[in-house]
Amino acid sequence: MNELATPPVPGIGLTARYPEIGTGPVDTAIYHEPQIYAKEMEAIFKRSWFMVGRTEQIARAGDFFTYTLPTFRQEILVCRDRDGQVNVFHNVCTHRGNVVEHRKEGHSQGLFMCRFHGWAFDLKGGLARIRDEEGFFGVDKACNGLKRMPVGIWQGFIWVCPSDEPYQSLEEFLGDQGRDTAGYPWGACTQSYQFEVEVDCNWKLVNDSPAEVYHIPVLHPNSAAPTMMASGNIMGRLLGTEIKGHHRTNSHYSVMGEPKPVQKLAYFHAAAAQNVAVEEKGYELPKGINPTRSPWWTVDLIQFFPTIGFTLSAGMYTAHQVWPLGPNKSLYQQRVFVRPAKTAAERFGQENTMVEFRDVVMEDFSTLERIQRALDTDQIKQFHYHDHELALRHQHYVVTQILAEWDREQASAQG
Ligand code: FES
Ligand SMILES: [Fe+2]
Repeated sequence: MNELATPPVPGIGLTARYPEIGTGPVDTAIYHEPQIYAKEMEAIFKRSWFMVGRTEQIARAGDFFTYTLPTFRQEILVCRDRDGQVNVFHNVCTHRGNVVEHRKEGHSQGLFMCRFHGWAFDLKGGLARIRDEEGFFGVDKACNGLKRMPVGIWQGFIWVCPSDEPYQSLEEFLGDQGRDTAGYPWGACTQSYQFEVEVDCNWKLVNDSPAEVYHIPVLHPNSAAPTMMASGNIMGRLLGTEIKGHHRTNSHYSVMGEPKPVQKLAYFHAAAAQNVAVEEKGYELPKGINPTRSPWWTVDLIQFFPTIGFTLSAGMYTAHQVWPLGPNKSLYQQRVFVRPAKTAAERFGQENTMVEFRDVVMEDFSTLERIQRALDTDQIKQFHYHDHELALRHQHYVVTQILAEWDREQASAQG
């Protein structure tokens, strides 16, 4: 909660800082046309990296978890080997394609055994054992280990690339956004909860939802609005939007308006639990977080294009991940990370924050599905973006630029 007496009213003028992005209405075709979605798969998604978990989930050699990359329907197996390396394999047995490890997570003594015919693979993916090997016709074990998937680690997050040959390294993919947010105490927030929901809308609409706060006083009058909107900011404006290549950051302005009695209690306790600055003297947020260093700052939405965002405060964060499932279907995953609470009161404060986050997101999604119906039936051909909807305009610009570049690549490849 801010103690300064007179909050400034956030101004307009964000879009003018990025003249290449324009100010006019934008064409909505990229939000629903199947052929554009198909092109996005090739030009954007197969060239991106995707966060699948954290290294703490596999702290010891032999620890593993499995996951299905929803967009690509690929099964993966993530494990730590005895050299401490994090390996990611296609979770597909090289005998006849069954998944090698069925369990969601666990610990292996050193082998993963396929439960179809019993072939076994070691922690480095090597094919260690073929049951009744003598009945085969010279299967070369050295060439039939689990297929590796490109993997990278950034700040304790495990990222994978769905293509065998990454278009760019993880470091290049994360760019300045990755460099400017490194050093945040990502690893201190060791407790998390997650929920996911399928939404009948294009992936870009899901991204758009938290990327503007223009809608908060109107769509969330009883949830987010009472605490985010007050006399200083009744229109729901941002502190700023910073664009970094394909990525971007929204910094949120906040004045405590009229919290409900339970919110007052929760915020009082959660503030102590969540604010690392309170606990760690001399701690300073990395320069990419609260980049304006405004005293009115509460949270940033750190977006890594195309589909991973972090809503991030001084000591607690939420990962938002969107997985496209079709031109008008997406899977949304929300995972909240908190520091272990020291008291029951802190825990209560954290729980309140988590539930509020979930409820606000769910309020958004029914609106998104209505928008998608209007798009699918060609009832809206243009969107008009407010100055503080710059993040949405930027996403539209980036997608359009990438698809145009892809068309040029294809044309020159065809001679
Ligand atoms: S499919 Fe795995 S052992 Fe046969
Ligand atoms: Fe919302």
